[in-house]
Amino acid sequence: MPSPLAELHLHLEGTLEPELIFELARRNGVTLPYRDLDDLRARYRFRDLQSFLDLYYANMATLRTAADFERLTWAYAERAHAGGVRHAEVFVDPQAHTARGVPTETVLRGVAAGLGRAESELGLTSGIIVCVLRDRPVAEARRMLEESLAAGVPLLGIGLDSAEVGYPPSLFADVFTAAAEAGLRRVAHAGEEGPPEYLWQALDVLGVERVDHGVRCLEDDVLVRRLAAEQVPLTVCPLSNVRLRVVDDLAAHPLRRMLDRGLLVTLNSDDPAYFGGYVDDNLRQCRDTLGLTGAELATLAANSVRASFAGAGRKAELL
Ligand code: ADE
Ligand code: ZN
Repeated sequence: MPSPLAELHLHLEGTLEPELIFELARRNGVTLPYRDLDDLRARYRFRDLQSFLDLYYANMATLRTAADFERLTWAYAERAHAGGVRHAEVFVDPQAHTARGVPTETVLRGVAAGLGRAESELGLTSGIIVCVLRDRPVAEARRMLEESLAAGVPLLGIGLDSAEVGYPPSLFADVFTAAAEAGLRRVAHAGEEGPPEYLWQALDVLGVERVDHGVRCLEDDVLVRRLAAEQVPLTVCPLSNVRLRVVDDLAAHPLRRMLDRGLLVTLNSDDPAYFGGYVDDNLRQCRDTLGLTGAELATLAANSVRASFAGAGRKAELL
């Protein structure tokens, strides 16, 4: 697979592998509602985004200490590095943890420790993007931002995730303005299950620099022309789209059409422990199923570096 790669759409909590769920549950005295690994794995068949999110949030109950978050982060870094990733901008969902009594500072300190180890031992550079859970109250999002900024950990950006339909980006205009004033870069999930209108809002109301997923932009020709003209990066996650039934199967994925329309597309894994593969698996399966050429794979890799928030020096090293 082409390397070096940057991964720009990766939820750290979505890298929680079944084996680690059982190990952490044992260590932290958490009772799981699954008989064994097979029973857990049997539940990884999703109808839509919400049916996935229900399991994703439930399994987070096993993550309790900063050491747990460090362990999770290091495991991701090792696996991603083995697949060619040299720079990663990772999403974290602090509200999913504070809601069950784990402070934002505990979460972010653990993640930062794991990423620090990844940089010193693997040379993997990175940044943390804290995400607003859009299906929770705006006041809670504001609190999450304040707690994250106060955690004493360097932050790269703010994002927007969780259940999309019915929760338009415009709800969080003030939170994103405050984040920008604090120096954070802005990204948002839009156009995964939600309509093209949510991409317009992400761009024009939240002021995002990248759109996560964005595959439904193809339903709005004016929007596609704008995204192409401004070269707004779209962090596309094909295996996720298949598992969450955004597309019928990988052969029907619009990745090739998006490239042909001149969009700045990057390939990413989203929640690799749940969707059957890391970023190199996404690349390999897209190559085999969609017939991507070596040149197209190289373009996707170069796009990922260009679309990253790495500094100019680091980008030059990776390109
Ligand atoms: N949180 C984790 N994965 C997500 C996805 N694919 N869409 C929205 N929120 C998420
Ligand atoms: Zn995502």
